[in-house]
Amino acid sequence: MKKDLLSLLDLEKEDFEILFKRAGQLKERYAKGILDKLLTGKTLGLIFDKKSTRTRVAFETAMIQLGGHPIYISTQDTQISRNEPAKDTARVLSRYMDCLAMRTFDHSLVEEFAEASTIPVINALTDSFHPCQILSDLMTIIEHKGGYEGVKIVWVGDGNNVANSWVNAAAVLDLDLTVACPDGYGIDPDIIKAASADKNPRIRFTHDPKEAVRHADVVYTDVWASMGNEAELSGRIKVFQDFQVNKALLSLAKKDALVMHCLPAHRGEEISEEVLEDKNAVFWDQAENKRHMHKAILEKLILKN
Ligand code: CP
Ligand code: NVA
Repeated sequence: MKKDLLSLLDLEKEDFEILFKRAGQLKERYAKGILDKLLTGKTLGLIFDKKSTRTRVAFETAMIQLGGHPIYISTQDTQISRNEPAKDTARVLSRYMDCLAMRTFDHSLVEEFAEASTIPVINALTDSFHPCQILSDLMTIIEHKGGYEGVKIVWVGDGNNVANSWVNAAAVLDLDLTVACPDGYGIDPDIIKAASADKNPRIRFTHDPKEAVRHADVVYTDVWASMGNEAELSGRIKVFQDFQVNKALLSLAKKDALVMHCLPAHRGEEISEEVLEDKNAVFWDQAENKRHMHKAILEKLILKN
């Protein structure tokens, strides 16, 4: 595996497989009360310029359960807010800790940190990508569907950071992925090109949500306005109307289709209340699996094994 995890294009298929296997083992062992403390004495720094419940808490608990220590580094309370250059901050933090997880706006900032630091840098979400999310979501798909091969995954909604990471995962793992977004809100063509997704017939792009979800095994959605785009929400609500994941849309998917959402969800917008509250929903498994997958990622990057 490379030094950093900034996008899923940083991983080979083999890396994905190693992470799925180890995250599954760690989950099973934790459930039996076995604590794997392979990161005793190690420190993880967390710099989050955007809000987070799941990703931050899952990284912190993962690090503590592995015997290490997380340190939340508030931008406001450090010299970062007084414009100390990213490359200087990265070099200094590399002298104190063993890994850095960052959530920020512009993807180039995590690249700048990774370039200057000697410790692994993990992208905990940028405007462009959310790689750790898709790793834990694929773990959830494997648990519920027995694998990802032959599983038809459909993205319905905004062509955002989470969707971009699905395209990257599909390119590396040769997933059957259909992405349905309103015209003008699709995946950035540069992202498609960088993943060579335009050359893969199993990765399809459409503006028709109904056609897309036909025979789907997984229907995945996310907010219509991501963090940083909130001002556009009222305009988007009109454009995205037909892209709500509700019972009517899901009736076109396979009967046992999984409905997935990275959360937080906006009820009555991208997903209906009844779908979100469905007793068979896997959203909470997705959220839990972030902790197990983050452990596998931290072990792999910090121990370089
Ligand atoms: N899914 C996810 O990344 O959630 P948070 O924004 O709460 O971290
Ligand atoms: N696309 C969402 C994901 C949140 C986990 C956002 O960036 O706000």
